[in-house]
Amino acid sequence: MQMNVVRTADGSSTLYVAELNEHYHSIYGAVRESSHVFIACGLMSLPAGMHTVRIFEMGFGTGLNAFLTYYHAIGGDKEIRYTAVDAFPIGQDDISQLNYPGYLGYPDAGEVYQRITGSIWGEPVDIGSHFSLLKIVARIEEYDFHDFYDLVYYDAFSPEVQPECWEPEIFFRIHQHMNPGGILVTYSSKGAVRRALTQAGFIVEKLPGPPGKREILRGKTGKSRNDVV
Ligand SMILES: C[S@@+](CC[C@H](N)C(=O)[O-])C[C@H]1O[C@@H](n2cnc3c(N)ncnc32)[C@H](O)[C@@H]1O
Repeated sequence: MQMNVVRTADGSSTLYVAELNEHYHSIYGAVRESSHVFIACGLMSLPAGMHTVRIFEMGFGTGLNAFLTYYHAIGGDKEIRYTAVDAFPIGQDDISQLNYPGYLGYPDAGEVYQRITGSIWGEPVDIGSHFSLLKIVARIEEYDFHDFYDLVYYDAFSPEVQPECWEPEIFFRIHQHMNPGGILVTYSSKGAVRRALTQAGFIVEKLPGPPGKREILRGKTGKSRNDVV
């Protein structure tokens, strides 16, 4: 896919795919959107006292969500085990044009972002003492889950351009591979997505969205694996 780097309203960059007429993030702020949807409404909303957090991301893309997660968990008591799938990994030429390390400004941000985005696909790697990463090249529609997750970042391209990534059957398989008390967050608030999540067994709530987006969705699993919603 041919991509162009564009600057979003908060000054952080994103990629634009002309073929799909889609951006990887909100043009109202890439870092602002990821921080709100995935970090604030996801990672920071997990039940207190969870030491090891297993995260699954649909759509690794630029690695921004993993990068933000790394820094939000640093120095805390959480150990992050992060698994991400992407059917079309981005090449290093495009990645190198993104301004996330400078934007976040941490002294080691360039090195950490390089380790996250440059790690070999299919091989688990320790990015830091509190963060391990496994990136897998796969289509979500065909992905065979092997693990159970506490938190899911669902970050596919929009349902308008990729309806096949938002089918109830996919959410059902994800739900089956989540731990009790788990959370799925997504930037989409479409009625069809809400219904698909509900059909899959999630207890779904609408939350205020980041700038440019009125609402987002968060789905929760029941308290025990056998809860029927
Ligand atoms: C909205 S972008 C993800 C943004 C990403 N989380 C980030 O922070 O940069 C959607 C991603 O889904 C990937 N993708 C598209 N179709 C897919 C599929 N069927 N299965 C898995 N990944 C897919 C794309 O390659 C793209 O990286």
